[in-house]
This record gives sequence, structure tokens and C-alpha cells, in this order.
Amino acid sequence: MPRSSGDMQPARLGESEVVPTYSRLAVRYDSWAALAESTARRRCLELAAIQNGETILEVAAGTGLLFVELLKLNPDGVTEGVDLTEAMLMKARDRAARQGARNYRLLVGDARHLDYPAGRFDLLINNYMFDLLPESDFATILEEFKRVLRPGGRLVLVNMTTPEHWYQALWEQLYRWSPSLVGGCRGVRLLPFVQSAGFHRVRREVVSQMTFPSEVIYGVKP
Ligand SMILES: C[S@@+](CC[C@H](N)C(=O)[O-])C[C@H]1O[C@@H](n2cnc3c(N)ncnc32)[C@H](O)[C@@H]1O
Repeated sequence: MPRSSGDMQPARLGESEVVPTYSRLAVRYDSWAALAESTARRRCLELAAIQNGETILEVAAGTGLLFVELLKLNPDGVTEGVDLTEAMLMKARDRAARQGARNYRLLVGDARHLDYPAGRFDLLINNYMFDLLPESDFATILEEFKRVLRPGGRLVLVNMTTPEHWYQALWEQLYRWSPSLVGGCRGVRLLPFVQSAGFHRVRREVVSQMTFPSEVIYGVKP
């Protein structure tokens, strides 16, 4: 397990608070996501390099903002999404139904124990979830992601990251004042955890939107 990255703040949203918090946020989540996270989501899709016909899992699919893009790029494949919060998934299901998509499922599920056999997926995507969770969960979840990917399967993660410039520090300060102002998210740095989990060809990019810093991490299961 990598040594803790000193500048990461501890998670302050307790495990039992995640579902109630995101059940409340589900209504207004998309406006925030469009303002501060859409550029990182686009980069995530570019790095994912989806080929139609793949078997794809999005963990923490939320309101389905990225999930419907996966469906557009993978109309003949199988696309699955899980999330802990049913209220977020209800929005995702509406979105997917409006698009008239097929070959998909959106189910309640926990990143820590994915209900899929080993080696099932070509691609696993997970956006803005680790930044809510305690560092002690990171290795377990990455092991689980690795388990459900096939050898050669790709992993793309997006998260709020720690500031690299003074003007990005506002978000960490807001979290210090009141974690709920930023949906319980603080900046994380996942690169050493992804490397320690045994992924290959791991790389990290930082994307800043409205001064909000996100990291996009890519890796491949050997
Ligand atoms: C900030 S939202 C991100 C949603 C979506 N990925 C996006 O980028 O718009 C965080 C989501 O993570 C989900 N979540 C938190 N912990 C989880 C876990 N252990 N397993 C699955 N989903 C989880 C929450 O329910 C919430 O929908």
C-alpha cells in the first residue's frame, strides 16, 4: 500500500452519510457537474477510446451524465452502471430511456463488492467517487476494479485533485469549512494507489475548469 499523500485531507462524509447526501443532491447535481466537471468527463471519454461492441462498467454512475455518452459510443456492446444511491440512478435511468438505448443495466451496487465475475469487462470507468471515500478504502476498491477487468482491460478514473495553483485552493478551503458545500469531495491523488494495485501504463493528467482541479488517470490490467 502506498504511503499516504500528505496533502490529502481526510474524508469527512461518513459511510452512512453518502446515500442520504446524494439522495438530497440528486436534484441539483447536474448543474454543478456541467460547470466544473464536463471538461474532465470529455477527457475521460477520449482516453477510454471505446470501440463499439465492448463490455463496459461505470461504477458510481450517478445521474448518468457520462453513462449516456457510453451508450452512444457502444450501441452494440453491453454497458452496465452501478451506484450506491438509488435517487441518483433514477435520474440516470430516465436519461438512458429518453435516449432509447438498449443493452444496458443500471443497478444499485457498491464499488467495494462488485457483483460481477472476474474478467468480465473491457473497460471500467469511475468518476468523482474516490474523492468522497476514506483513503483506507482505496486499495480494496482498486483490487475489486482489477478483478472484474479482463487482462488488457482499461481503467479510467476521474477525481477532484489537490491544488497545483493558488487559485485552485478555494475548493479545499470550502471543504475545510463545510464538506457539504462540495458534495463531501476533497482533492485526492490516486496515481500511487493505481500503480500499487498493479495496473500498467498508468498515467495522470490534470484538467482545471472554473478553477476546479480534476485528475484523470488511465491504467491497463496486465
Ligand atoms: C460526486 S457523485 C459522481 C457521480 C458521477 N460519477 C458523475 O461523475 O457525475 C458521487 C457518486 O458516488 C456514489 N458512491 C459513493 N460511494 C460509492 C460506493 N462505495 N459504491 C458505488 N457508488 C458510490 C454516490 O452515490 C454518488 O452518486
